[in-house]
This record gives sequence, C-alpha cells and structure tokens, in this order.
Amino acid sequence: MKRIFSGIQPSGNLQLGNYLGAIRNWARMQKDYECIFCVVDLHAITLPQDPEVMRQATREVAAGVIAGGVDPASCIIFNQSQVPEHAELAWIFNCVARMGWLNRMTQFKEKAGKDRDGAFVGLYTYPVLQAADILAYKATDVPVGEDQKQHIELSRDIAQAFNSMFGVDFFPLPEPRIQAEAARIMSLRDGSKKMSKSDPSEYSRINMTDGPDEIAQKIRRAKTDPHPLPESLEGLEGRPEAANLITIFAALSDRTVESVVTEFAGKGFGDFKGALSELAVSTLGPIGDEMKRLMAAPDEVDAVLRNGVEKARAIAQPIVREAQDIVGFLRP
Ligand code: AMP
Ligand code: TRP
Repeated sequence: MKRIFSGIQPSGNLQLGNYLGAIRNWARMQKDYECIFCVVDLHAITLPQDPEVMRQATREVAAGVIAGGVDPASCIIFNQSQVPEHAELAWIFNCVARMGWLNRMTQFKEKAGKDRDGAFVGLYTYPVLQAADILAYKATDVPVGEDQKQHIELSRDIAQAFNSMFGVDFFPLPEPRIQAEAARIMSLRDGSKKMSKSDPSEYSRINMTDGPDEIAQKIRRAKTDPHPLPESLEGLEGRPEAANLITIFAALSDRTVESVVTEFAGKGFGDFKGALSELAVSTLGPIGDEMKRLMAAPDEVDAVLRNGVEKARAIAQPIVREAQDIVGFLRP
C-alpha cells in the first residue's frame, strides 16, 4: 500500500505554480492513496522568520491546501513542529548522512549564497530533516516540483544507509513523483524565471487569493512577443512567454499543450488572453474565495491542524520508537 507525503513552507503569497505544481496534484492523489501533507515550519526557520508573520503564514498555507481541494476529512494536514518525532528522527539521520552528501545539495548553495560561514547549521542539514519528514511515516511516494528531486534522492540514500548500518530492512526508499505538465510555471513578466512567492513584482504571479479583476489585469499585462500564436508545438520553441501562457491554459483546463496550440493556431494574443482570463477566473475564483473565507476563520483552520497533528503523531510515534530501538537507545 502506497503512502503519500509532501510538504510546503509557511510563506505567504501562495501562487498559481504552488497550486498547479503541488496542491492540485495532492488533491488528485487523495482519492487513491493515504495522504499526509505538512506545513513545514521547522524548515522555515532555517532562514530568519518573524514569529507572528510565520504563525499567520502557517494558517494561510493550510487554508490554501484545503481550498485547493485537499479534504481534511480524508487526508492528514498538520504543521511539522507539533509532531516532535520529525526532529527526533532528524537527529538520528544527522548521524547517518555524510558531510559529502550534503555538500552536493544545490539548494543549500543557492540559499546560503556567498556567505557560507554565516548560514545557519539548520540550513545545511535541511535535507536531513526533509528525509525524516518522509521516513517518519515510511512514506513511499513524494509528489513535488522538479526543484526537490535532489532532496528526495538524498532521502533514499539516507534510508538505504540506515538499513545497511543496522542490518535491517526498515525504511522504504521513497520515490519522487514529479508532475510533468505543470512542473514549472514561469513568471508572467519573464518566461525564463520560475513563478515564485518571493518575486518582488506582483505582476509576475497570479496569487491564489487574487480576485477576477486582478487576474484579468495580470494576464492582460503578461509579457508576450509580437507574433501570432504558432500553428504547431515546434512553433513554441524560443518563445518562452507564449509557451508559458499556453502551458497555463492547458494545465487549468486539463488539456494537452498540443490541443490548446491547435485551438488558437494563428490567433493574436489579444483573443488568447481574453480566453485565458475567463478560464483562470472561473477555475481559480472559487478556490480563492474559499481560501479567503478560511483565512477569516482561523479557528476552523486551527481545528484541522490540531486534528492532523494527532493523526500524524499516531503514525509517526511507533515508527520513530522502533527506529530508536534499532539504534540501541535504552528504554528504561
Ligand atoms: P515552495 O513554495 O517552494 O514551498 O514550494 C511548494 C511546492 O510548490 C513545491 O512542491 C514546489 O516544487 C511547487 N512549486 C513552487 N513554485 C512552482 C512553479 N512555479 N511551478 C511549479 N511548481 C512550483
Ligand atoms: N523542501 C520542500 C520545498 O521547499 C518542502 C518539504 C519539506 C518537503 N519536507 C518535505 C517536500 C518532505 C516533500 C517531502 O518545497
């Protein structure tokens, strides 16, 4: 039986890439598998955070996950810091993983920048905690965007090293599940940059809470090129902005890029943007409304998280206990 685990950081501004690349896929998996989704506040503090802002962002991201279609009645939704087994298992894994493995992690290099000596130790061992998140539940499948592939591969290495250090067959080797179609939604202002929560330009992204006017305005102002839409897939090569808008259209309408290209072949961006706006408003509108409703009902969100913490703990506790027994900790 497969068990799905994934995580998302508690930072504000959930955007279309988070929805199409992560949350929507999570909602689709819940029908077939046991799913556990975690707001990773322990990971968030690997960079400095304002405490009150992070508390609010934790609720906001949980609201986005629920509004995006993840059903708290059938999935576990919780925040990481409240299940102490994550940190406990991470410590054991800090004594399994090797410096050399972490030295290869590209996300650390990007986030630490030039001043490596000034980076928090937690930022360096971030991927070890991520392995503990997944393996505390013996999760088998991890739906993430392309950028997380290296971390999931490290989780496999850690699981395998633990098993062989102690001569057991205890942890499964988790598989990354990367959604091909919407793996990389790009910025509306620059087709070579990922759409991101942290982009300083509001016009670069569609937020999950944007209303119809904001969505329409951002699409109207999205960067394009002076040519009509191409007649075939090959015609999208070298046209990153056109390719991105068509990808978004395809993802939102659950169609292939090819069928969208065929429908709009030879048309101008004006017509296409009108259709895209209508589609985006009709699909994202209700999700944004529900998210705003939940953000105004913090007690409801907290109740979901509290319930999730309890259920998550019931799974993680016996697994992490057993790992501690394997390591040789005395339980007096
Ligand atoms: P983050 O916002 O970095 O915590 O990412 C949360 C999840 O959303 C991860 O699985 C990311 O891979 C995914 N994600 C974030 N931005 C995008 C994007 N522009 N396109 C596709 N997936 C994304
Ligand atoms: N590092 C992931 C990101 O930035 C978030 C994350 C933390 C995660 N723990 C996880 C994703 C476990 C999948 C599984 O997007």
